[in-house]
Amino acid sequence: MPVFPERQDSGSAFPIPTHIAIIMDGNGRWALSRGLPRLAGHRAGTENLRRIIEACIEFGIRYLTIYAFSTENWGRPKEEVEGLMEIFEDVIDHELQELQDQGVQLRHIGRLDRLDPVFRNKVLHALQYTSDNSRLVLNVAFNYGGRDEIVNAIQRIIQDKIDPQEITAELVNRYLFTAGVPDPDLIIRTSGELRGSNFLIWQGAYSEWYFPPVYWPDFDKEQLRLALEEYGHRERRYGRVDQPREEQVDGHAH
Ligand code: IPE
Ligand code: IPE
Ligand code: MG
Repeated sequence: MPVFPERQDSGSAFPIPTHIAIIMDGNGRWALSRGLPRLAGHRAGTENLRRIIEACIEFGIRYLTIYAFSTENWGRPKEEVEGLMEIFEDVIDHELQELQDQGVQLRHIGRLDRLDPVFRNKVLHALQYTSDNSRLVLNVAFNYGGRDEIVNAIQRIIQDKIDPQEITAELVNRYLFTAGVPDPDLIIRTSGELRGSNFLIWQGAYSEWYFPPVYWPDFDKEQLRLALEEYGHRERRYGRVDQPREEQVDGHAH
């Protein structure tokens, strides 16, 4: 069983999110704006990920979820899909030891079944290899879709013959790919697009959103720092209204 890290006090002046999720968007436009092929943008995006992982460790983030490939991305041209698969395989071949040395625990959300078996086995090995690490959980959303995740959860709840009375939000959480991982506090989408694109649609119910106006390969440590600073000033209310303590309504007069 993987070990899950606890929130830690990083000594920051503002509250640091426990879990950040990132929609790493804009690789294609980054490349095209430089007259490069789209795949060059995906390579640059992968390089950037390495820097952001390091920065997250430095800032004391415990969980980082990254959207690497959506269930809808299969609809891209064949060369781009194949190129992306090659890049991901390269990352596992060349970066796994470094991730292990950094204390990163790799997790995967999404479906591995449609993948080439050699690639799938490499992924499974990487998950197993890093499973005892607890400095940062890097949750890779690969062949992931939020609706697909919920459909998968419903199928397994029915297979397990769960009594309808026992179906609660907590139970649903346990059937999602993210079981055991706290909900994201902050979701960042780079590139200027203002949409969720089927990412963590259940888990993001009360996440704070942040949309930096840069393409993913240009989202650097300073950009991350700005995102954290902005998060630190947000007031998360969860539907409540702040009242002086004695007026709080909880069924008892104070
Ligand atoms: C995000 O960058 C990476 C993946 C979807 C794999 P895009 O490839 O979507 O880049 P843009 O949005 O076309 O610029
Ligand atoms: C979301 O970006 C998926 C990833 C970043 C992996 P897309 O570029 O696929 O999303 P849309 O098509 O702009 O909604
Ligand atoms: Mg895009």
